[in-house]
Amino acid sequence: MNNPEIKLFNEIIQFLESEREIYGPFSLPDSSVEPEQALNTDTVNKPDTSISANSSASEWLTLHSEGKPLSLLEKLDACKSLEELKLFCGQANELRTDLNGTRLVFGVGNPNADLMLIGEAPGEQEDIQGEPFVGAAGQLLNKILEAINFKREDVYIANILKHRPPGNRNPNPDERQRSLPYLLRQIDLIRPKIILCLGKISGTTLLNKDDSLGNLRGVFYPFRGAELTVTYHPAALLRNPQWKRPVWEDVQRVRKRYDELGGKP
Ligand code: URA
Repeated sequence: MNNPEIKLFNEIIQFLESEREIYGPFSLPDSSVEPEQALNTDTVNKPDTSISANSSASEWLTLHSEGKPLSLLEKLDACKSLEELKLFCGQANELRTDLNGTRLVFGVGNPNADLMLIGEAPGEQEDIQGEPFVGAAGQLLNKILEAINFKREDVYIANILKHRPPGNRNPNPDERQRSLPYLLRQIDLIRPKIILCLGKISGTTLLNKDDSLGNLRGVFYPFRGAELTVTYHPAALLRNPQWKRPVWEDVQRVRKRYDELGGKP
């Protein structure tokens, strides 16, 4: 009993037991486990702190907070997969707009995509189907992707906002800022090589730079380990056919850079 580790172990048990008297029951280590074994940090299994599909957000927060409130960034950081992040976004009221009853439009596509496309916000069809770019702009986007030899399933598609704004108005600055940390975590989990922003709202929000689309396009900006570039939004292209040529140039540049960076074939 004069092994200092065993002494320490017994002191910890005594401390935990006195804490239990104050704070109520919690589980102690299995007493059939030898103290030497219990103290061997090499063999200690790390607790599974992931959110599983059947754990509620409150269970998950308890698991992570150990009584202390976590910051949003800490909570986002604790989401270790897109599934976990999606569950977390589903509980996040700050992602909502002032349109009631909208559905989460999290994102769709290959979770390991080397090309990620980011639009503005879900519209009516996207809200109904829970998937980005499924309306008229989405049909055009699919054609643009095919023209540069991508299938929709090869890439990942998301929006700056994860809920539909009323009347399809532009996302306002407050909505964009509230949604941004969630999108940044999504980008970090996907780790694309190239991000293509569709439209000025997407480009200016991510680059944190207020400029015209004409000035922003044509450049690959370093962004969270990826290269980010901007082109016209497909919905704008439907209304302004004169932007077909610049979009064609932009997406061809994207395809070329994607291949240069060794994007998945
Ligand atoms: N426009 C967008 O920006 N995103 C969508 O998902 C649909 C239309």
